[in-house]
Formats: sequence, structure tokens, C-alpha cells
Amino acid sequence: MRILVLADIHSNWAALSAIDERFDVCLFVGDAVDYGTAPRECLDWLRANKAICVRGNHDHAVAQRIKPRPGAGFRRLTAATRSIHWDILNEKDLTYLAKFPVTRQVSIADHTFLMLHATPRDPLDEYLTDDKEAWQQRLTGNTTDFVCVGHTHVPFHLDLGEQQVLNPGSVGQPRDGDPRSSYVIIEDGRVEFRRIDYDIDAAVQSMRDAGMAPQLVEMSENVLRSGGQMA
Ligand SMILES: [Fe+2]
Repeated sequence: MRILVLADIHSNWAALSAIDERFDVCLFVGDAVDYGTAPRECLDWLRANKAICVRGNHDHAVAQRIKPRPGAGFRRLTAATRSIHWDILNEKDLTYLAKFPVTRQVSIADHTFLMLHATPRDPLDEYLTDDKEAWQQRLTGNTTDFVCVGHTHVPFHLDLGEQQVLNPGSVGQPRDGDPRSSYVIIEDGRVEFRRIDYDIDAAVQSMRDAGMAPQLVEMSENVLRSGGQMA
């Protein structure tokens, strides 16, 4: 049994389509949308591959038509692409996103998986990296074999003894200084982190084609090419 674990695709079809893996099940731990400009292709891929999904903070905001808050940095990039999403996506797409549950537990072959985007304390928004003690605390009472999370765009793997917590990193907007797309394969209980190059030029061109302002395209391009740096 080969399980593909993805997070934080962020409407980057060039990155998602570069993943060339054989898999039996895809687990997606949230943030299909915002930042990039190809949400339709990314949602079609998730549907076509019958991905088991949970909701990210950006999926929630797009589906619920929440206006982006003004601000700088990533907030500014969110604002630049949110309205483009509402132009591209139809009601069926928004309903598909709205139905992503906030958390879910699944059993696959011999293992159990808890899926959520951020943390059990605040499944949409809490930002928590590889802090073993904090994860232990937040997972009190949960006994799944694997806990799959996203949100930080930084991959990590924690061994808590009976339980493993993993963040596959971001498919479409890595922020750990490595611009390559990041994901995980779990095969027969073994966890493998992978990175692949993808066509960043195509992702940037997609933003231009979607009508993003040149200054914001440049800002976004810097993030993609540097693996998370704004300037
Ligand atoms: Fe994200």
C-alpha cells in the first residue's frame, strides 16, 4: 500500500502536476487554494484521484467567500489571488471545498491516520513546527499511528514513540528555503520525504495570464524561487 501525502498545494498546478508517483491513496491535509492562479486544475486533480481531504484555512476562506484582510507579505499575496479564485471557481467547486471536514481519522491497511491542517487545538490556524513536547501535549488522548498535518509549509517528521507526526511540506509554496515541491510517500508504514523540481516559469506565467499586477507577480515569484523569502 503506497500512500501519497500532500499539503498546501495553493493553486500551483505546475507543482502538483510535476508529482509523478504511483500511489493507492492520496491524503491531502489542506490549503488547495489561494496564492497561485490555477485552482480549477488542482481541484480537478484532487477529485479525479479521489483524494481524502481536510480543510485548510485558505480552503475555508475561499469556500465561505471571506474577504481577505488587508496587510503586507503573504496576506497581500492572498488578497491578490482571492478574487481571481472567485472568478475561476464555480459553485460546484466552492461546495467541494466547503465539504472538506476540519479533521478526520482514516484506517488504511494496517494503520490509522489523524488528518488535520494545523493542530488539534486549532485545526485551521495554529502555527506549530517540530516541537515534540507541544505536539505530545496537543495529541493527548489520540492514539492514531500517524498524524498528518500541513500549514507551516515546512516539512518535519516527529517520532513520539507509538505515534508519528508528519508534515509533508508544501507542494505549491515551500517555505523552508528549498524551492522544490515537497511531499511524502508512506509505504507499508515507512515514511519517505521527497522533493522535486517543477516548472516555476509556468507557475509565474499562469499568474501573469490571470491578470495579477506585475509587482505582485514579482513578489510571488521571489517566494517560489527562494523557497519562502518575500524579497
Ligand atoms: Fe498554506
